[in-house]
Amino acid sequence: METKIYTIDKAHIDMDKIKAAADILARGGLVAFPTETVYGLGGDAMDARASEKIYAAKGRPSDNPLIVHIADMKALEEIAVHVPESAYALAERFWPGPLTMILDKSDRVPSETTGGLSTVAVRMPSHPIALELIRASGTYVAAPSANTSGRPSPTMASHVIEDMDGRIEAIIDGGKVGIGIESTIIDLTCEPPMILRPGYITREMLLEVLDEVDVDQAILTENTDKNFKPKAPGMKYRHYAPKGELTIVEGTPDHVAAVINALTKQAQSQGLLTAVIAAGETASRYDCPNVFTIGTRSSEESIAANLYDVLRKMDDLHMDVIYSESYAGGGLGQAIMNRLLKAAGHKVIDADTGRHQHTLIENGRAKARS
Ligand code: TXA
Ligand code: MG
Repeated sequence: METKIYTIDKAHIDMDKIKAAADILARGGLVAFPTETVYGLGGDAMDARASEKIYAAKGRPSDNPLIVHIADMKALEEIAVHVPESAYALAERFWPGPLTMILDKSDRVPSETTGGLSTVAVRMPSHPIALELIRASGTYVAAPSANTSGRPSPTMASHVIEDMDGRIEAIIDGGKVGIGIESTIIDLTCEPPMILRPGYITREMLLEVLDEVDVDQAILTENTDKNFKPKAPGMKYRHYAPKGELTIVEGTPDHVAAVINALTKQAQSQGLLTAVIAAGETASRYDCPNVFTIGTRSSEESIAANLYDVLRKMDDLHMDVIYSESYAGGGLGQAIMNRLLKAAGHKVIDADTGRHQHTLIENGRAKARS
């Protein structure tokens, strides 16, 4: 199939192009589109066959449910039942925006869309192109991240083209996304509500609205753990992994630079293509020829925004061995380290002690497992 590309400026939305893309969705086809977090791979959430096409295009296991994207509050009541007061309070504060809520699903949502679960994930994105597309489609839009299953999520149209060209009807190119990591997922079907995936909306922000918020312990553990049973099925798959061997090196900056410089020298002497992922503040400390600046520590937002593009570059440039600094910290640090640790298969070196370890994250800090 030939994939159409519609280039749309989010500041001056061309409604003819939105209409053309929305018609594809209404006819059961797939359209990738920008959201404020990452690009989504959209299909009609109320059409079981469209959901099946999404799983096929991504190569995604069909037990891994999709997020239903809506553009108004009336939609919430059509796809979810027993909607608690807390959902309205969270919507008031964070929608439209990067928060996904898990609620009991209504009978109208096909079980193909929810991977067979009796609950449904719902999100009202804030990206103007996403909102116009949903409205024009006359339906609700099921959309996982628009990457091939297992690759980093797409943060620009070129990433989507790499993974989806020829596999879907259309791609809306709306430029680089703002946030760069997926939405926070909160389960409201349990008491207290529980974070299933960390994202831009932090636990602290949720606690401004809710009295109590738990964190699914499974998102902090390694996915090889026998007891790993996350409530968000997607969190059990090894995501975002570059083809090269990625290791995170943490500790005081001087020790981190010394360890990484020694290890990259060793890898290069074996003829391996070697890369370093570093913050702007410390990038000049590395001798390796392939140093990729991911953002600056003074702006966690900049690190989140570039994370997946940098991970994709590791594959594009066929890097064999990759060392990254750690970006643990408050706020967005938890979401960044959740994704980076998964990409590294939880391989971490403590540069201060020289210990190689597998770690968990706790409160945004990497923490050695005993
Ligand atoms: O920011 C985002 O959320 C992006 C954009 C496109 O909106 N979407 C996204 O979708 O990240 P996806 O499919 O890549 O991730 C959805 C996650 C998966 O881990 C899935 O298992 C979980 O949400 N999920 C979906 N429905 C669920 C449900 N009913 N219960 C628990 N987890 C659910
Ligand atoms: Mg995804």
